[in-house]
Amino acid sequence: MAAPASKQKKKAKAWSGRFGEPVDALVQRFTASVSFDQRLAMHDITGSLAHARMLAACGVIRRRDLAAIESGLAKVRAEIRAGKFAWSIEDEDVHSSIERRLTEIAGSPGKRLHTARSRNDQVATDVRLWLRDEIDAIVKKLSALEDALLSQAARHAALVMPGFTHLQVAQPVTFGHHLLAYVAMFERDRARLADCRKRVNVLPLGAAALAGTTFPIDRARVARELGFDGVAENSLDAVSDRDFAIEFTACAAVAMMHLSRFAEELILWMSARYGFVKIPDRFCTGSSIMPQKKNPDVPELVRGKSGRVFGHLVALLVLMKGQPLAYNKDNQEDKEPLFDAVDTLKDSLDAFTALAAGLQPQPKAMRAAALEGHATATDLADYLVRKGVPFRDAHEAVARAVRAAEAAGCDLSELPLKTLKRFSFAVGADVFKSLTLEGSVASRDHVGGTAPAQVRAAIKRARKRAR
Ligand code: ARG
Repeated sequence: MAAPASKQKKKAKAWSGRFGEPVDALVQRFTASVSFDQRLAMHDITGSLAHARMLAACGVIRRRDLAAIESGLAKVRAEIRAGKFAWSIEDEDVHSSIERRLTEIAGSPGKRLHTARSRNDQVATDVRLWLRDEIDAIVKKLSALEDALLSQAARHAALVMPGFTHLQVAQPVTFGHHLLAYVAMFERDRARLADCRKRVNVLPLGAAALAGTTFPIDRARVARELGFDGVAENSLDAVSDRDFAIEFTACAAVAMMHLSRFAEELILWMSARYGFVKIPDRFCTGSSIMPQKKNPDVPELVRGKSGRVFGHLVALLVLMKGQPLAYNKDNQEDKEPLFDAVDTLKDSLDAFTALAAGLQPQPKAMRAAALEGHATATDLADYLVRKGVPFRDAHEAVARAVRAAEAAGCDLSELPLKTLKRFSFAVGADVFKSLTLEGSVASRDHVGGTAPAQVRAAIKRARKRAR
């Protein structure tokens, strides 16, 4: 967005003989935010309109000034939408740019818009308005991802795969159950954002530079028009508070962390060692040297991009920690991390929603892996307990049976009844119901358990909550 160098030089020269020309150009470029904060333009205009209408309603500006401001801002809006607005770093930021253009169009009424306002309360208002919309969009995207996962979970409610602890086969679970774990995470992300939105949706306008204004303003009216839930209680806090941005970025970081865990699993599952899932070719990329490769670039990038968002959270915390009250120019640095956190999260959610819908689980590989780790050993112990054996004794007996299976080169569930009986008098012919993968998952039949019936019930509940 920088103006051409020749133009900058000319301007710098006109400014002052006291400053060397190159320094002026640098400072202008260094302090300008218009290249990135023009993204707030529509919300800036919305905020200005509400402010102007309030000024007119309170008798601070005349009705005809308001009319000129309204039609002028409508024109500015149209120019920006059409890509015809002349952005220039000479205007420093989005607020000054729009006011400059408004005044060119509307004349002196345009110069009255900034009455009882400062860019300090203006920018805080703009960012809150913008972020509120983004939160709403992200919440929708989270719902779409949950929907995609719920559909897959419903399709594969009974599909058995190994569950892991320490990345070692632990107990069989259903693929549906595994996917529902992510649904639970994304549901919490959504709830966190909904809660964060309450603190975003508070109006700073009226705080002016830092101490409030001498004009008889009506902040509640502005809040109502802009759909804010309330007005900021303290003017110093209103212009300097960026908690809302930090809190949002923390929510975004947690959501990215969840996506990153999911990404990590997909990457493992797609590898030949696992072979648990295939993802559609359109989400993979090839290698420039190895013709056989199909790489999971999309999940890898999401895993990588989570680091960026964590970085933005830390950047915003550090940005704030040393600032005395009230507004400091440091705050201008809040925008790029916040914008990038929003963009990264939205793209990652879109990518994962499409990925989740396209997941093709591979039942054979999942089953084979589940049969490799004596995954039903706990089930055998539980079986013995139901027959009256104390749990510690049952644990010991099964451990010995596992050793025998290992020596025989088979899975615990594949040992013949005669052999199993050697480890405990309590083993009967009905033992195999507990030892099979299907029997194992089906028996974990309580709320939160992996039984297919429970997975189906959990899907129903999740869908009801989403409504
Ligand atoms: N561009 C500025 C920002 O993003 C707007 C507020 C400027 N206020 C000031 N006192 N210089 O923070």
